[in-house]
Amino acid sequence: MGILSGKHIVLGITGGIAAYKSVTLLRLLVKAGAEVQVVMTPAGKEFITPVTLAALSGKPVVSEFFSANTGEWHSHVDLGLWADLMVIAPATASTIGKMANGIADNMLVTTYLSAKEHVMIAPAMDLDMMAHPSTIRNLKMLQSDGVEIIEPAAGELASHLVGKGRMEEPEKIFEKIVSFFGHKTDLIGKKVVITAGPTYERIDPVRFVGNYSTGKMGFAIAEECADRGAEVVLVCGPVNLQTVNSGIRRVDAENAREMLAVVEKEAYDCDIAVFSAAVADYRPESCCDSKIKREGMENMTLKMVRNPDIAATVGENKKSGQILVGFALETDHERENALLKIRNKNLDMVVLNSLRDKGACFGTDTNKITILDADGSESAFELKDKRMVAKDIVDAIVSKLC
Ligand code: C5P
Repeated sequence: MGILSGKHIVLGITGGIAAYKSVTLLRLLVKAGAEVQVVMTPAGKEFITPVTLAALSGKPVVSEFFSANTGEWHSHVDLGLWADLMVIAPATASTIGKMANGIADNMLVTTYLSAKEHVMIAPAMDLDMMAHPSTIRNLKMLQSDGVEIIEPAAGELASHLVGKGRMEEPEKIFEKIVSFFGHKTDLIGKKVVITAGPTYERIDPVRFVGNYSTGKMGFAIAEECADRGAEVVLVCGPVNLQTVNSGIRRVDAENAREMLAVVEKEAYDCDIAVFSAAVADYRPESCCDSKIKREGMENMTLKMVRNPDIAATVGENKKSGQILVGFALETDHERENALLKIRNKNLDMVVLNSLRDKGACFGTDTNKITILDADGSESAFELKDKRMVAKDIVDAIVSKLC
């Protein structure tokens, strides 16, 4: 499941050099879970092959009214009913003119005329064509017909002339599509690393030192970040949870040292890191290769040594612009301890929850948090479902992004 899963999108491609960028747009849409039907004008096929687009979308490209070999009729009416959104990128001056004037001489314009859904177009053409009164008139007509125009940018064009006419970048068009479907898109292009769950520190092949963390809070944050468009790496200890959003890459780690190794590899280029895992502070000094037997042993002493601090290690090597968020689960002197963590681990904020609050402990579906910021500000929230708590945490993170 991705941010666009279940959404049906018709992607119209016309004959412009910018058609090569439509491949990236298609990949972004498919990766986000959308079902995409590509419809091309005959000229579009001169710029990019239907084979590439069919392979990426998983559907044969529609371009003609009939399949030449089978005589099968491609129903533009059915496509219009199937789609939740139609996006034409690139849209040439010719297609814009045909759309504005109802000249339905190809499958793409015919599909447009049958479209019941919202339509977006991303014009792409040379600057003189873009500035021509006819194009300006046609675009105005389309706008008054309810078509959303994704403004072209100024820059170097295929003709090497410089001016307005470059198709908007596929990532930006993707953002518009995502926000059309009502999702926040404020983490598109950001990499977020999240630790979640407990760690198990082995004593012998059948026993470990662990804790009650279930990973629910970290998983909820991962889903929220992925839903807002982030690339998410979720580094989790032994948990019994599944991810939903396909934008989440999950990496499992059993103990603190394994978790640190993954985080060090992933966090150096991340924009945001959230340390919600309940990492064991200590581990047995050594792990027995075989099961420890009780026979002949009245008492057992386990010597424990310090585990690495994952948050503090990332904090020590923090890059400029990175946002690091820690968690503090405390029983006493909550605020003081949380503020100490911000300082000692070089964090930007700490999410504090107290074991004294009912409904805010391990394994519950709810949490009650206070967010303490390195700038001294503080916001307290009501007891909420962990998915809603994740929204509050991610909103606080986004407000700190430059
Ligand atoms: O120091 P303390 O364990 O109270 O700090 C909690 C915060 O530090 C949490 O964000 C937790 O995920 C992180 N932490 C860590 N590695 C450890 C211990 C804690 O990343 N070994």
